[in-house]
Amino acid sequence: MLEPQAIASQGPDFSPLIMGYWRLMEWGMSPQERVAFIEHHLELGITTVDHADIYGDYQCEAAFGEALKLAPGLRDQLQIVTKCGIATRARPEHQIGHYITDKRHILQSAENSLRHFHIDRLDLLLIHRPDPLMAADEVAEAFMALHHSGKVLHFGVSNFTPSQFSLLQSRLPFSLVTNQLEISPVQQSVLLDGSLDQCQQLRIRPMAWSCLGGGRLFNDPHFQPLRNELEAVRQETGATSLEQVVYAWILMLPSRPLPIIGSGRAARVSEAAGSLNVILTRQQWFRIRKAALGFDVP
Ligand SMILES: NC(=O)c1ccc[n+]([C@@H]2O[C@H](COP(=O)([O-])OP(=O)(O)OC[C@H]3O[C@@H](n4cnc5c(N)ncnc54)[C@H](OP(=O)(O)O)[C@@H]3O)[C@@H](O)[C@H]2O)c1
Repeated sequence: MLEPQAIASQGPDFSPLIMGYWRLMEWGMSPQERVAFIEHHLELGITTVDHADIYGDYQCEAAFGEALKLAPGLRDQLQIVTKCGIATRARPEHQIGHYITDKRHILQSAENSLRHFHIDRLDLLLIHRPDPLMAADEVAEAFMALHHSGKVLHFGVSNFTPSQFSLLQSRLPFSLVTNQLEISPVQQSVLLDGSLDQCQQLRIRPMAWSCLGGGRLFNDPHFQPLRNELEAVRQETGATSLEQVVYAWILMLPSRPLPIIGSGRAARVSEAAGSLNVILTRQQWFRIRKAALGFDVP
């Protein structure tokens, strides 16, 4: 059973692995099956769930909310994270995909999320992507209003560079608690561009998305050398699957990322939970790095 951990000095406490619901509509679950899926990851100690207003063409939050309505006891066992700030063409009024981070939109999106989930507070709200038209003062005003009303307990960002993060932080009277970033052996750029250094410096834990490359890690012929190395390390460590080795590789980063699981299969979620028992040596970590990138350290 996984135990919750503080992700920033003033909280919140999240499970060390997070369940991602981006693909919920692809899983074809009935509302009752969604309840059973949530209960399954709660039993493993995976209590934090990741959403966004746009997931499933703006349908995932409401589908999740349907399950919460069926089983109201679930809400207080969960920490609910959602995001706003992207406008997709799934809405007919959006002629083009764009970003929107003005105060009105952030307040409205948070209200919509609460309504879709049938809840009265969000545990964490993130700005989904950096917006070239983002006015930091406006985002800060929206965050402060949501904080003041108790509708959102904590705030963060996603896919922000360190300077974008620092800009927004400079306008806020409380700390942003995370930067949600793409982290995997097949996407290593944030390991060396300062993003994870900033998290370590501020003692906040990043959330890691697409840890398995969105599934490409298993089926892209380009990643066969990586799969071979992961299999070798799997045998050496006694891990039961390649994904356990991948999650262990991410968990070894000193900024202590929280991997977000993207699978809709209960057995794979259980498998992911076992990755906290897999410990890699430094040399195993660098072998995986090299196999993914195709070159050695200088
Ligand atoms: N902040 C952002 O910009 C951002 C962007 C993308 C995602 N996210 C968050 O991160 C979460 C995870 O992202 P993700 O879904 O891309 O994660 P992922 O774990 O990299 O990919 C999940 C995909 O991999 C497949 N998969 C898992 N294990 C497999 C295996 N052993 N063999 C073959 N296929 C396998 C899954 O299929 P099955 O379902 O069949 O197992 C699923 O389609 C999302 O739900 C979302 O919450 C955030």
